[in-house]
Amino acid sequence: MASIEITLNGARRTIEAPPTTTLLDWLRAEGLTGAKEGCAEGDCGACTVVIEAGASRRPVNACLCVLGQMHGRAIRAVEGLGRDHPVVRALAEGGATQCGFCTPGIVMAAWAWTRSGGDPHAALAGNLCRCTGYRPILDAMAAMSDDGETAPGFAAASSQFGGFHLPATLEEAVALRAAFPDAMLLAGGTDLGLRFSEHREHPAEVICLLNVREMQGVTVGEACQRIGAAAPYAEWLEACRADARFAPLVPYLERLGSRQIRTLGTVGGNLGTASPIGDALPVLLALGAVVECASPRGARRVPVEEFLLGYRRNALASDEIIVAIELPAPPPGALLAAEKLSRRHDQDISAVSLAACVEFAGETVSRARLAFGGMAATAMRAREAEAVLTGRSLDDDAAREAGAALRFAPMDDHRGAAAYRLEAARGLLRRLALRHARPDLPATVHA
Ligand SMILES: Cc1cc2nc3c(=O)[nH]c(=O)nc-3n(C[C@H](O)[C@H](O)[C@H](O)COP(=O)(O)OP(=O)(O)OC[C@H]3O[C@@H](n4cnc5c(N)ncnc54)[C@H](O)[C@@H]3O)c2cc1C
Ligand code: FES
Ligand code: FES
Repeated sequence: MASIEITLNGARRTIEAPPTTTLLDWLRAEGLTGAKEGCAEGDCGACTVVIEAGASRRPVNACLCVLGQMHGRAIRAVEGLGRDHPVVRALAEGGATQCGFCTPGIVMAAWAWTRSGGDPHAALAGNLCRCTGYRPILDAMAAMSDDGETAPGFAAASSQFGGFHLPATLEEAVALRAAFPDAMLLAGGTDLGLRFSEHREHPAEVICLLNVREMQGVTVGEACQRIGAAAPYAEWLEACRADARFAPLVPYLERLGSRQIRTLGTVGGNLGTASPIGDALPVLLALGAVVECASPRGARRVPVEEFLLGYRRNALASDEIIVAIELPAPPPGALLAAEKLSRRHDQDISAVSLAACVEFAGETVSRARLAFGGMAATAMRAREAEAVLTGRSLDDDAAREAGAALRFAPMDDHRGAAAYRLEAARGLLRRLALRHARPDLPATVHA
């Protein structure tokens, strides 16, 4: 049986542990105890390590990823920087650590940020510190700079470790799906990871899709984006930043999980889980996405509205795999908007979300697609509200009437009572009208 190989802190390592062991458990068993287990569910960031590939550095939650997924990749744990690294010294000398439990994770998130840049607050969205407070940490980050180091690139190859399969082509993946219909299909593992981390499960057969060539990357065409089902959110976000047509989605996607979650989490996984509060789903509904699926019977293209069937239910047949998502660009002149309401601004699941694509003929709405998350058993379009807006100016009166027409019976749980959700959804429709009137409206809202 082949062995898992990774590059850890610059040195090649051959691993004999079960492939569904979490990276965090393995690191700690190897004596690298810098990464901590705070929550084991991707929330606290105390376990953060960095995946390096060439010049790219992306933080991940070591508690959620398993060794098999990491085969062939270069990982940097905090021990790989050492006590004298400038990032470590900046935090230590800046009084940016007290009990120190969060510090190794913050070191790694900050080290990744010195390469990727962007808002330092956002870089820390996936790292909780209960005692220092973030001001000294952010002050220390302001003095950090990129150390210029690079790592080996990553070349995906098909591999197998017992019942853990890493196909490199779609043909292999489909054949494996047919041969092992009960196998766990694993992409980023940001939903499934809890089964490994909290429940310490070791499924007999796993098909990991992360290396499948046909499922990689986000390609931009004249009419649409093609989002590979194994492309992480980080790549979708970059593609949206680079394309003015999709740029209105950027602030929304920046609030999907944390940087750690976006390094591995995929749109394919959001569709696979089909949660009513999956944040990608209202966007796919508002833009009329098509889900490309493959099975031994051939390829199938399913409009996303037909793909989402109910609470955590989708139209995927037992022998099918999601290959990609075709996401049409909004027509020229259309208003594309996405808003998320959650109890906490960063790294929180939506209570209610709205994605909208509104087309105009002059000042009049000619077509509206409004899709909500958190308002029903699955993400869903609000057709009654769409009908109210059509043929009208998109103003506050129209938005209020559209809100009154909503026919949802929302979920009632700890993220929001049903009555709150309905009012919040109405508020988001009014905010859509406000955004139309004032394109400079701040990008995101939070409760
Ligand atoms: C701390 C934390 C914060 C989070 N925040 C958010 C958030 O803000 N918004 C949000 O929407 N989600 C959030 N999530 C949930 C999760 O990140 C998303 O649902 C993500 O899209 C899952 O993708 P994945 O690749 O990790 O899926 P996985 O966990 O690998 O798989 C999820 C499901 O999809 C199936 N699947 C995956 N890929 C395919 C495929 N190609 N074909 C068929 N089936 C497939 C799997 O079999 C499984 O059933 C969060 C999760 C965590 C742990
Ligand atoms: S232990 Fe909390 S995010 Fe991994
Ligand atoms: S220093 Fe104690 S949790 Fe951050």
